[in-house]
Amino acid sequence: ITVQVDQPGAAIRPTMWGVFFEDINFGADGGLYAELVKNRSFEFPDNIMGWSRILRSGSEGYIYIERYPQEQTNAHFLRMKVGKTGQGFGVSNGGFRGMGIQEGKEYRFSVQARLTDGGPMALRIQLAGQGRRPLAEAKLEGFTSQWQKLTVVVRAGGTDARARLNLLVEGSGTLDLDMVSLFPVDTWKGREDGLRADLVQMLADMKPGFLRFPGGCIVEGRTLDERYQWKTTIGDPADRTLIVNRWNTEFNHRLTPDYYQSFGVGFYEYFLLSKDLGAEPMPILNCGMACQFNTGELAPMDELGPYVQDALDLIEFANGPADRGWGRKRAEMGHPEPFGLKLLGIGNEQWGPQYIERYKVIAKAIQDKYPDIQLIAATGSDATIFPNGPQEIEYLWSQFRQLKADIVDEHFYRRPDWFLDNAHLYDDYPRDGSEVFVGEYGAQSIGVASPDNRNNWHTALAEAAFMTGLERNADLVTMSCYAPLFCHVDGWQWRPDLIWFDNLRVFGTPNYYVQKLFSLNRGDRVLPVAVAEPATAPNGKPRFYASSVYDEKSNEMILKVVNATGEPVRAIIQTKGAKAVGLQANVTVLASDDLNDENSFETPRKIAPVESKVPLRSAEFRYDFRPYSMTIVRLMCQ
Ligand code: AHR
Repeated sequence: ITVQVDQPGAAIRPTMWGVFFEDINFGADGGLYAELVKNRSFEFPDNIMGWSRILRSGSEGYIYIERYPQEQTNAHFLRMKVGKTGQGFGVSNGGFRGMGIQEGKEYRFSVQARLTDGGPMALRIQLAGQGRRPLAEAKLEGFTSQWQKLTVVVRAGGTDARARLNLLVEGSGTLDLDMVSLFPVDTWKGREDGLRADLVQMLADMKPGFLRFPGGCIVEGRTLDERYQWKTTIGDPADRTLIVNRWNTEFNHRLTPDYYQSFGVGFYEYFLLSKDLGAEPMPILNCGMACQFNTGELAPMDELGPYVQDALDLIEFANGPADRGWGRKRAEMGHPEPFGLKLLGIGNEQWGPQYIERYKVIAKAIQDKYPDIQLIAATGSDATIFPNGPQEIEYLWSQFRQLKADIVDEHFYRRPDWFLDNAHLYDDYPRDGSEVFVGEYGAQSIGVASPDNRNNWHTALAEAAFMTGLERNADLVTMSCYAPLFCHVDGWQWRPDLIWFDNLRVFGTPNYYVQKLFSLNRGDRVLPVAVAEPATAPNGKPRFYASSVYDEKSNEMILKVVNATGEPVRAIIQTKGAKAVGLQANVTVLASDDLNDENSFETPRKIAPVESKVPLRSAEFRYDFRPYSMTIVRLMCQ
C-alpha cells in the first residue's frame, strides 16, 4: 500500500460524514423525544388510544373525551366524572411500549387541569412497575375552575423498562385533564421537556458533519395533507398539530397503528440539536409530491405557492433577523442568533418529469432570493426498487446537469455484495459541477428493508469498503449518511438501523462504529493511495480496499484499510514524499472473524474499535491486516 503524502488532493468537507434523522422506528416520539406519555393531549384520531380507565372495587365514575368549543390544534381533553373512588379510580398510560423508569432518577410530571364540578379533588401520581409497590408517588392538589398547569417532580425508587403512569383521583366531582406529560429531568443538556440524553450522546460521539432532518418518507407523507409541514412543528408544543406518521401503515407485514407525530421534536429542536452536535443543519422539504411509494399525490403546478413560501420562510426562520418575520419566531423560542442554514433539500426520493417541473419552480424562487443556499435535488431510491430504476436515475441526472443542480442526493439500499463491488462507483462519475450527496444507504443482509435484516458485521464491513470509495472521491461526494438512524426494539418498521434502543438502554451496531470511525478520522485532504495486488472476489472485484487522508491539524496521514477477505493480509505500507515520519502509529481495528456477529444490549461492544500503538522503524513498515477487518492507521507525517 503506497500513500503519497506529498500530493494532497481534494479538500474533504467538514460535512463529509453526517447523520440522517427520521421519525421511523419510534425515532422521535418514543425515542429521541424524552416524553414518556403516549397521546398526552388526546389528539390521536382514537382520542383515548394509549389510555385505560382504572376502576377498582367500590369506585364509581366514568371518563370521556371532550372538545374545546373553539380550539383548533389541541382540540380535545379528558373528562373524569367521579362519584366514589373506592379502592381506586382514574386513568393509566402505558407509554411507548412501556415507560423506562430508572432507580434514583427524577421525573417531572405535569398536567393541564381544571375542576368543573364538585371537589375538592386531588390526583395521586403513580409510576407503577411490575412489582406491587409503586416506583414513585406524588400528590397534586389545588385544582380550580380555571385551566392551569401543575407540576411535580418525583424520584424513582426502582427500575422498570415497562412501567406505567397511573393517575388516581381523590374526592368526587369532575376533573378535566390535558397535556399529561412525564419527562426524565436529566434530558440532553438538562433542557426541560427535552431529548433523551443517552441517544443524543451516541450522535455527539460521532461528531457528525451535518444533521439531515426530518426524513425520509415522512417529509412526503402518504398524502399531501399528511406531509411534514415545518410551520406546524414550532412554537408551544401544546399547539403543534399532531398528524399520522407515514410509518403508521402496513409495511413488511408489520403494522404500527399507534404511530403519530406529536412534533415535540420539531424544526426548532432539530436546528438546536444540529448546533449542539456542531453539525450543519440540513432540512428536507416537501416539493408538492406525496410519497411515490404510496399515493404519489401531486400538488397542481399552479398551486405550488405554499410549498415555495414554506421554503422561503424556513430560510428566514433559520437565518433572518431576530426582530422581524420568521426570525422573530425563532428568537421568541429562545434563539435570537441565526442558525446559519446553508443546505436545503427539495423533495425526498422523487422521480419523473413531475418532480423536475416542481423542483425548478421551488429552486428558482429560493435561488432568486437566497443565492447562497445550496440546494439538494433528489433522485428516486435504490434503482432496483423504483419503477424503471436505472433509466429514471439517468433521466434525473441529465436534467440536473442541465439545471446545474448544486447537490444531487442518491440512495442505496442493497445487499452487502453490491457495496463490496461498488467501492469504485464514483471513480468514473462525471465531474461537471453537481456534487453528490449519498443521502441514505445501508447494506441489507436479506433484502431491501426485509424484517429479517440484521445489522451484522457483513453489512458493516461492506459499508466500510464502500465508504473508502466515497472518501477517495471526496472531490465529488461531499456528504453522506447511513439510514435509518434510530430503532426502538419494540417499535420498528424498518431494519437494519444504525442505533438500537429500548426504553432504558442503547447500543451502537457494528455499522455505527464504522460510521463513527470514518467521521472521527475525517482529515482535511485526500491522499493518493495505491494497492499493488488487492485480493479479489471470483467476479474480479476487489475485496481489499484502502483510502487515505491528511489531517492538517495533527499533521497525520490517516490510512483506512478494509480487508473483506477471510484471510489475514500481510502488507507493506509505504508513506512516500514525507520529510519526517513519526516513530509510532496509532492503530484502530474493528474486526470479527464471523460475518454474522452482531452487537446487542447484552454484548454492546462485541464488535467495537480496539486501539493500539505500533512502534515503527521507518516510513516503510509491515502490517498484518486481520481477516474481515477495518483498520485505521494514524501516523505523524510531515
Ligand atoms: O430510511 C428509510 C426510508 O428509506 C426513508 O424514509 C426513505 O427515504 C427511503 O425509502
